Amino acid sequence: MPKEKIGLMGGSFNPIHERHLEMASCALKEGGLDRVLFLPTGNPPHKKTGLEEAEHRYEMTRLAVSGIPGFEPCRVELERKGTIYTVDTLAILKKQYPNAELYYIIGEDTFFDLPNWRKPDKVFELTRFLVCRRDTHDPEEDPRCGKMRKMGCKFSFLSLPPRDVSSTAVRAELKEGGDPDELKPQVIEYIRLMGLYGREPIPADGEAYYTRLKKNLSDKRLMHSLLVSWSARRLAKRHGVDENRAATAALLHDCAKCMPLSAMQQLAKEHRLLLDKMSLQSGNLLHGPVGAVVAEKEYGVTDPNVLAAIRCHTTGKVGMLPLDMIVFLSDKIEPSRRSYPALEEVRRLAQESLPAAMSHSLRSTLDYVKSQSGVPHPATQQVADWLDRLMAQQRSNENE
Ligand SMILES: [Fe+2]
Ligand SMILES: [Fe+2]
Repeated sequence: MPKEKIGLMGGSFNPIHERHLEMASCALKEGGLDRVLFLPTGNPPHKKTGLEEAEHRYEMTRLAVSGIPGFEPCRVELERKGTIYTVDTLAILKKQYPNAELYYIIGEDTFFDLPNWRKPDKVFELTRFLVCRRDTHDPEEDPRCGKMRKMGCKFSFLSLPPRDVSSTAVRAELKEGGDPDELKPQVIEYIRLMGLYGREPIPADGEAYYTRLKKNLSDKRLMHSLLVSWSARRLAKRHGVDENRAATAALLHDCAKCMPLSAMQQLAKEHRLLLDKMSLQSGNLLHGPVGAVVAEKEYGVTDPNVLAAIRCHTTGKVGMLPLDMIVFLSDKIEPSRRSYPALEEVRRLAQESLPAAMSHSLRSTLDYVKSQSGVPHPATQQVADWLDRLMAQQRSNENE
């Protein structure tokens, strides 16, 4: 049986960015690897300025690689104390995966520094190297390559074109309140909720909400919630809605989604929610109104506007406010949503006009349900009609 090939991507991941993922993807393909483990470093004995806590760096890494086939976060460096040497990490991994071949993915500068690492001979025995070039020259022409081979180092260069992404620049942009393009939306959202890199946490209870959601939701649902929150902040900014409220409602909108239907029905009964029969029998509809109860009772949300937005995010309602529309739409258009016919148009319209995007989204739902010979919730039609009247009214006001 061929040996499993495991790539190792070490780093502080402070924070993890596109270049790390690009390097790992290239290594996976060109090295014919079965998987790549991402190994965020632990907390150093003396805290370095600007280095976030290991658990935060691990969680950002976990979120960034989640759902990418072959990528896995690994805690091996996190759980050790004191100065950690790569040779020790490799020895642990070799023990853990005795039948695997290890491939350490590394940048060219660090690679040529290998002879200065602790126990280089042992390192060369335990792993091969896949090296990312720092510029466009042919690295094999470097006389140090021959020297490294003589020392027993097995390596090959990746074809990945050089690109300079500086973590320092990414952190500086974060500190100034920007959203660096090099970060995945879920990582940006995590940073905002936790208030990392010198930012104010928004909402102030972001960390408590996240911790609780992580316990109550599946990984997939947690990721979706982060992405809905990311989208909602952007729309809130665009349409002049309070960011704190939009992020809170969006983050918590599915807080009841992973409950069994019977538990949702029980809560609806206990709290005397006045609901139609169709809503009471469908978890897909019921998690909206029940979610508002859970957000209030379990998460301690008191803002009625936030609770209202959670309540109506499954069906919409006549008289929706901009905050409600932002949560409803963000749920539909967040970046991981798989393409459906109206998606791009709803995304585009959401930037221009919330009612227009809502109307387009609801009408496409109505068309879809009808095409499947299903019965839409009555609110869908009512809200779509109300929005069209609202927009007609707005147009006539503009013309007066
Ligand atoms: Fe939902
Ligand atoms: Fe959702």
